[in-house]
Amino acid sequence: MDWDALIRSELDPMVPYAPGLRASEVRERSGKDVILKLSSNEHPCGPFPAAVRAMEAVLHRLNRYPDGSAHALREKLCATLDLAEENLVVSNGSNELIRLIAQAVLRPDDEVVFAWPSFVVYPMVTQMFGAVAVKVPLTDDGVHDLDAMLAACNDRTRLLFLCSPNNPTGTIYSRDAFEAFLAKVPEHVLVVVDEAYFEFVFDNDYPDALEYFDGVRPIAVLRTFSKVYSLAGLRIGYGALPAPLAQAVDKIREPFNVNTPAQIAAYYSLLDEPELERRRLENQEQKTYLYSCFDRLGVAYYRSHTNFVYFMTEKPVEVFEALLEEGVIVRDFGTAPALRVGIGTPEDTAITIAAFESVVARLGSI
Ligand SMILES: Cc1ncc(COP(=O)(O)O)c(C=O)c1O
Repeated sequence: MDWDALIRSELDPMVPYAPGLRASEVRERSGKDVILKLSSNEHPCGPFPAAVRAMEAVLHRLNRYPDGSAHALREKLCATLDLAEENLVVSNGSNELIRLIAQAVLRPDDEVVFAWPSFVVYPMVTQMFGAVAVKVPLTDDGVHDLDAMLAACNDRTRLLFLCSPNNPTGTIYSRDAFEAFLAKVPEHVLVVVDEAYFEFVFDNDYPDALEYFDGVRPIAVLRTFSKVYSLAGLRIGYGALPAPLAQAVDKIREPFNVNTPAQIAAYYSLLDEPELERRRLENQEQKTYLYSCFDRLGVAYYRSHTNFVYFMTEKPVEVFEALLEEGVIVRDFGTAPALRVGIGTPEDTAITIAAFESVVARLGSI
């Protein structure tokens, strides 16, 4: 077999998604008993208690295929978000929805505009379908440069991703900036607003893209149960899509893309608003403790609207390794002068702060 002839050449430059290091690997390397995996923006606690009970109750029914239309969950989400069912799509993680939207709309040589650095899956789906990535640098404050993103649009632009709040910087753009952007974005461009960290935001100036979603405008809004709801291991996300796009995605998704425990766990998670609020507040509080540690140690960082913080370092490789030796796994970005650390429980924060202090004592600075 001539594998080069067989496999689509668009895939040649792609590299597989690199997950963070496993805790077991780091335990061996560091000799520490407690390993904190703060590299994947996961929630430190398990799923909501009611979700766990509901999943346990459903395990003996896994001989059956899931409800392919996720009817109960979609109905619940529509009621919660005030959306019509024709606009609500659930997916195997919001990752799948990003890919399905790209697959539904991209033709070879189309252009896809997104900020950079941002979520690594945007360039991946762009390349996967033979389209061209147009990366627009963030401003010096780590915020999407919406004017530059508009300037990057042309007749070949098909798709534009906004990551709000942005991963990895945790930053948001303002309501005014978003409204000015929406007023100018060309009509032929589909704007996909990825709100994976939506639930962690407290800022009143944060524009919730769902408020601008009317089912007619070419805007899609994506969210996930992987973060504040702690269902990352189950893979479930959802999106508000204009009906023609929702129908296209429905045609190309796998017939049973969202498994039964995921559907049921997501449903029951939505019923427990006090637990959601408790997690939001705890995340906010732990983030301020981390900020005060960074301020004390002279570490520069972006103020984050998420459950992770992006901090600057002139020696990312050494700092990454030194934190590993302390049993703390953070996310690196190759040689970029920054690292990203997740927010954990109060106990996790105490360990994280002690780890940063000891790294500064060892390396002199971060
Ligand atoms: C910005 C952003 N979008 C989407 C996702 C994917 O989430 P999911 O687990 O729902 O696929 C992530 C996960 O880290 C993310 O950071």
